[in-house]
Amino acid sequence: MVKRFVGLLTAGGDCPGLNAAIRGVGKAALSLDIQVIGYLDGFHGLVENRYIRLDSTRLSGILSLGGTILGTSRDKPHKMPAGELGTVDMRPFAVANYEKQHLDCLVCLGGGGTHKNALRLANEGLNIVTLPKTNDNDVWGTDVTFGFDTAMAIATEAIDRLHSTAESHHRVIVVEIMGHNAGWLALGSGVAGGADVILIPEIPYDVAKVADAVLHRSYAGKRFSIIAMSEGAITQEEAACSDSDHDDDDDDEIPEGQIQESVSLRLARRLEELTGLESRVTSLGHLQRGGGPSPTDRLLATQLGTTCARYISEGRYGVMVGSQGGQCVPVSIEEVAGNRKVVPLDHAWIQSARLVGTSFGD
Ligand code: F6P
Repeated sequence: MVKRFVGLLTAGGDCPGLNAAIRGVGKAALSLDIQVIGYLDGFHGLVENRYIRLDSTRLSGILSLGGTILGTSRDKPHKMPAGELGTVDMRPFAVANYEKQHLDCLVCLGGGGTHKNALRLANEGLNIVTLPKTNDNDVWGTDVTFGFDTAMAIATEAIDRLHSTAESHHRVIVVEIMGHNAGWLALGSGVAGGADVILIPEIPYDVAKVADAVLHRSYAGKRFSIIAMSEGAITQEEAACSDSDHDDDDDDEIPEGQIQESVSLRLARRLEELTGLESRVTSLGHLQRGGGPSPTDRLLATQLGTTCARYISEGRYGVMVGSQGGQCVPVSIEEVAGNRKVVPLDHAWIQSARLVGTSFGD
């Protein structure tokens, strides 16, 4: 006899490990007499009541699959695109559909923006449990998010491969790595791949210092340089005139609307002018989120997903299942939604990088 009914959705950008987490939640739920439906395309499916049943057949064979079998979107229930009407507050539909399915809980798998949306629905009376996913690793309250380890491995391999071609042509190669607001991915892959310069949003850079680092290597007989650059890296001048007009209602993990001008292209052009060295750009883009999850991400997603089912069976709601010190812990969604985990300036990876001679352009 089924004791509880649960809806589950994946929202925001996809990442490797989502299917492993869906499987973890779903299989553990079934063993605890909890029935799960999966809403399609993030919050959009919830407000339109589009879902599939996550039975044991649907949950099989997905552990190693990339992406999400449910589809995802960046739509927000309180601001759904509605053609000529602009955006409409669809929270009442989300609540109505939750009640229509007699749900005991809604599970939301997502990053920073998803946690803000989940909190909005919790404030409307829904029981919510969330799981932290994103290649950016910037979710508050968890040591790590699933999707990060896989993306870091892909970016590291790219940096490894770029070494030989940069060296053969004596070039500077700027590798643009995901992360608009937090530099975990550029930092981790930059240190692991031995990048010569690492530029992250947390440490605004001086282009003259980057040029100096490159020239210094050149004078020392090293005729190439690799620069690992977060897509959200900013110059010191940009940092000085930003943040005062920061939009507090910005739920997005990324700047909204259009394709952004590449920061790496701008930097590469400037470096050519300042150093006279031939420069190239490689933007890794969505390659970093493609394909199946690493073993580490599968383990993390399975651990978080199964714990999520246990929390639901205990009626423990309003929390994200975080991973702290290798253990799963409940963290209030309110706390997660109100914060972002950026790289601390004294982080051990930064200290080690500086000690091996890596420049941060500061
Ligand atoms: O938020 C995760 C993330 O992969 C960021 O690293 C990246 O900036 C963004 O999503 C890209 O978003 P989209 O897939 O919508 O272009």
